[in-house]
Amino acid sequence: MQRFSANILKLCLLVLSACDDDGDDAMTDEGVTAATETLCAKYGGSSAIDQVVRTNVIGAIAEDCRINAFFTTLSEAALTRVNDCLSIQVQELFTCEGVSYQGAEDSNGLPCRSMVDAHRGLGIGSADFNALIEDVVAGLSEAGVDDADIQAAAPALLGMEPDVVEGDASDHARDECSNEEGSP
Ligand code: HEM
Repeated sequence: MQRFSANILKLCLLVLSACDDDGDDAMTDEGVTAATETLCAKYGGSSAIDQVVRTNVIGAIAEDCRINAFFTTLSEAALTRVNDCLSIQVQELFTCEGVSYQGAEDSNGLPCRSMVDAHRGLGIGSADFNALIEDVVAGLSEAGVDDADIQAAAPALLGMEPDVVEGDASDHARDECSNEEGSP
């Protein structure tokens, strides 16, 4: 049943349709009908998800010595754009009504760029990418997002790796981290 629900959620996210956390509710004698609740609604709506991204997800990234140097060197405006645009991206992933990353702007009116444009030249390696994914999962989990819902979101995030990781970047997630207290 757990696997069935997870697969339903995965399918729902893929088609960006409204989904329920429990596949049972979406079934009738005639089969699968329109589901009633989006993941966005399940977790309290756009502003609640915005809060989860800012507090838990970005919080986990900021505390992760393996990758936080990528962000601490950003200007205030660039950091605002990462925070705002990442929040919009997650809201879209959770099917929040009327939220679309494409064409969105941050709170300063700067456009949310494509993943390729936003990460070009940053030298992000695949180990850096994996570290960030771990932080996203940890942040969502800490905020109380169900494992099945996190699993459902994972393919969309993992699919962005070719757009984020530079072909010629080495694998690195900062080594010096291992000497820091509280490092992962
Ligand atoms: C699935 C994985 C990822 C997602 C969904 C994601 C999402 C985003 C978003 C939405 C932005 C803002 C877009 C914009 O500036 O127009 C951004 C920018 C940025 N991301 Fe990522 N990102 C991912 C992976 C990573 C990784 C692995 C790193 C480094 C470890 C990273 C570092 C950065 C940096 C430094 C910026 C700011 C670039 C700048 O303003 O010059 N990202 N990312």
